Amino acid sequence: MPTEVMRVSADDLNQAAFQRAKAVLAVDGLVAFPTETVYGLGANAFSAAAVARIFTAKGRPANNPLIVHVADVAGVERVATEWPANAARLAERFWPGPLTLVLPKRAEVPDAVTGGGPTVAVRVPAHPVALALLRTSGLPLAAPSANRSSQVSPTQAAHVLRSLEGRIDLILDGGPTSGGIESTIIDVTTEPPRLLRPGLITTAQVEAVIGSLERPVTMVKTSAPLPAPGMLERHYAPRAPLECVSEAGMSRAAELCGSGLRVGWVKLAPISVNQETQDQVGRPNQITPLVAGLDAGLNMLVVEMPLDPTAYSAQIYATLHELDDAGVDRILVDWPPETDDWLAVRDRLRRAATQ
Ligand code: TXA
Ligand code: MG
Repeated sequence: MPTEVMRVSADDLNQAAFQRAKAVLAVDGLVAFPTETVYGLGANAFSAAAVARIFTAKGRPANNPLIVHVADVAGVERVATEWPANAARLAERFWPGPLTLVLPKRAEVPDAVTGGGPTVAVRVPAHPVALALLRTSGLPLAAPSANRSSQVSPTQAAHVLRSLEGRIDLILDGGPTSGGIESTIIDVTTEPPRLLRPGLITTAQVEAVIGSLERPVTMVKTSAPLPAPGMLERHYAPRAPLECVSEAGMSRAAELCGSGLRVGWVKLAPISVNQETQDQVGRPNQITPLVAGLDAGLNMLVVEMPLDPTAYSAQIYATLHELDDAGVDRILVDWPPETDDWLAVRDRLRRAATQ
């Protein structure tokens, strides 16, 4: 099936594109669209047939449940049976936005969406294109990230096309996404609520609203930060093997180059991001080959990343995509600080490094 790409933007919510998307969704087709985190691959959440196509297109294991996107809090009622007080508090504070809530599901939501489980994950995205699509279609949209299973999530329409061309019907190209990594997922069916995936909304922000969260052991701050292969399911991974370095990145990079490999080094900038550089958030990175002195013959690409978790998140997936495009054999990533505000970034890097 050829994949159609239609441009849309926040200032010009191109009606033809939304009408086209609505028509595709109505016949159980798949539409990729930008959210404020990453691009999602949307299908009618009430159609088991449409949802089955998401799993086929992505090569996703059937037991991995999907997030359902709705236009507003009122839309939650169509997919969930309860609205706990903690959910209401979090939605009030963070929706529309990059926070996903796990709730008891309605029978109308097909098992394919929830992996057969009794709960459904729901969020109201903050991107104007996502909201316009939800409103125009009038449907709750089941939408995982719009990439083949285990690959790096897409933050640009070109990433979606490269990963899923010919496997999905339509891509709404709304430009690069601003958040850059996925939403935070909180299970509000338990007491205390549980953090299921760290994301753009920090645990501190969530805990300020509803009190302490229960966290999985793998996410508890650890003094042994570097991931051991096989520890976690490989996910968010670039084509080139990725390795985290806690120090001496330069000598490791030089060592790998010395053995004939082309190396991409995702380096933490030594100084904190300031106001003037904040407007870099969400823009694709520029990769500058290091040509000076020592590095001239070494085939090394260095990307300087901001020492700020929000700005870093906005750029990390785009950077990994670009290093893959550049054809590096190995990616080295400076391990970020062991503080809570870097939890989501460490989680993604840990998974990307898993062989
Ligand atoms: O930012 C995001 O969340 C993006 C955009 C597109 O909204 N979506 C996203 O979807 O990251 P995906 O499929 O890549 O990740 C969804 C994750 C699943 O891997 C699963 O861990 C969790 O959400 N999930 C979904 N439903 C769940 C449920 N009922 N209970 C527990 N976890 C659930
Ligand atoms: Mg994903």
